[in-house]
Amino acid sequence: MMKLQILWLALVLITVEANAVKQGINATIPALIVFGDSIMDTGNNNNLPTLLKCNFPPYGKDYPGGFATGRFSDGRVPSDLIAEKLGLAKTLPAYMNPYLKPEDLLKGVTFASGGTGYDPLTAKIMSVISVWDQLIYFKEYISKIKRHFGEEKAKEILEHSFFLVVSSSNDLAHTYLAQAHRYDRTSYANFLADSAVHFVKELHKLGARKIGVFSAVPVGCVPLQRTVFGGFFTRGCNQPLNNMAKQFNARLSPALDSLDKELDGVILYINVYDTLFDMIQHPKKYGFEVADKGCCGKGLLTISYMCNSLNPFTCSNSSAYIFWDSYHPTERAYQVIVDNLLEKYLSKVY
Ligand SMILES: *[C@@H]1O[C@H](CO)[C@@H](O)[C@H](O)[C@H]1NC(C)=O
Ligand SMILES: *[C@@H]1O[C@H](CO)[C@@H](O)[C@H](O)[C@H]1NC(C)=O
Repeated sequence: MMKLQILWLALVLITVEANAVKQGINATIPALIVFGDSIMDTGNNNNLPTLLKCNFPPYGKDYPGGFATGRFSDGRVPSDLIAEKLGLAKTLPAYMNPYLKPEDLLKGVTFASGGTGYDPLTAKIMSVISVWDQLIYFKEYISKIKRHFGEEKAKEILEHSFFLVVSSSNDLAHTYLAQAHRYDRTSYANFLADSAVHFVKELHKLGARKIGVFSAVPVGCVPLQRTVFGGFFTRGCNQPLNNMAKQFNARLSPALDSLDKELDGVILYINVYDTLFDMIQHPKKYGFEVADKGCCGKGLLTISYMCNSLNPFTCSNSSAYIFWDSYHPTERAYQVIVDNLLEKYLSKVY
């Protein structure tokens, strides 16, 4: 009897503790604020004069209501999934959405723009918003918060929100080819990593205190790279490109660690490379059937305007695929990545 009571008490305590942690988590992070590229874009490119858009079907086919919102996936993207994990909302609004009301800004927004990169040339080539211009919009965001909700609210958002920076794939995969006369692979990867560190410093100067930066991903393994560089029959990963991504990470990770010690707040390097690479090498382990082709169209080259409702080859079950188009993961793959990462990293920002 005594033993049972103790067990019961222990269970109650564990439950109370778990609830406290849960409420604490939800209470301490008022907003999620995101900078970067298509992985995090929830519609910022919709009104830009760029070809890199996806606000038409079958993009969004697995989004609530089946709407093509400008997310580069079949459903939600990591900015949404992370906002949900933080208990903020099921979706994160795009800052460029003309219908946003002041209240919609309070739980955070994404400034991310598909096709962009750390290298200013990347955004220029693609006619999208550079990460540096995203910082200018962020300043505007903060002044809107001050104007509508006061200095205190702005201070709370700056000090306690989680800030995420996700870029580099487009620089590595595309812009490098235009920069190869100025850089070799290693020095370009280093230049990008140094740019990412500079970006974090600027964000910190503007008041952000909890900042996470995604590593580069194995971009040499996306279906498009396999088709173009992986050999006609083998369609293997583009190894030199993956090596550049690894070089970027090898430079970024220790630099962010020392920034974390130097600056107040938390600066986190978030290793996405290993998780996505393992998923691509062992899709079955994660419940996927196809890792080397996208669901949309034939999945070999199809992206943006080539992935459209006239294309008859789109797969019916995107959950069986890691990639949605020839470049971007499916919502289900993103969910696996986010679950995996948040377990490892999120406890550090509360
Ligand atoms: C935060 O609260 C929401 C419900 O409001 C819940 O769904 C979510 O899991 C919570 N987040 C965490 C990390 O506990
Ligand atoms: C879609 O694929 C997933 C992963 O292979 C599988 O679990 C699910 O049952 C499939 N759904 C349908 C409707 O076939």
